[in-house]
Amino acid sequence: MLGLYFSGTGTSRYALEVFLSKYDTSARAYAIDDADVAEYIKDDKEIVFSYSVQYSNIPKMLNDFIDRNRHLWQGKKVFVIATMGLFSGDGAGILARRLRRYGAQITGGLHLKMPDSIADEKALKRSIEKIKSSSGQQKRR
Ligand SMILES: Cc1cc2nc3c(=O)[nH]c(=O)nc-3n(C[C@H](O)[C@H](O)[C@H](O)COP(=O)(O)O)c2cc1C
Repeated sequence: MLGLYFSGTGTSRYALEVFLSKYDTSARAYAIDDADVAEYIKDDKEIVFSYSVQYSNIPKMLNDFIDRNRHLWQGKKVFVIATMGLFSGDGAGILARRLRRYGAQITGGLHLKMPDSIADEKALKRSIEKIKSSSGQQKRR
């Protein structure tokens, strides 16, 4: 199993590393701009993506990465994690549909409400206490 992340402040990377630690302790996680990422993808059939929702959409850099490497997704089994501050839009579905178009099989998706990464957007702000209690609720579900 291979983990791939696009993560501005480390939130999506953290979520991915926790996920991998539960499912495959030998799995490694790499940023999509890692110099050797294409080789890692070629070598693995199962991929877990983790990225942050931006403007209710997939970040442009990730979108471009998927398109640029369109020849790599055929036959891969992919699970998608989408992190968000408040509202995911179609979250994991956006990446899932794009990868499916290139021949990947989507095994599932997860939306995670995480601390926000926009400093000037009041709607996304939550106190440390609130963040801690909502992550506790996610664990209990
Ligand atoms: C440019 C930008 C746009 C964002 N747009 C949304 C959004 O539409 N909805 C939302 O819930 N969170 C939005 N966020 C918040 C991030 O999705 C959220 O904080 C995420 O957990 C950050 O993960 P990261 O540190 O791995 O990038 C946005 C963040 C940035 C930087």
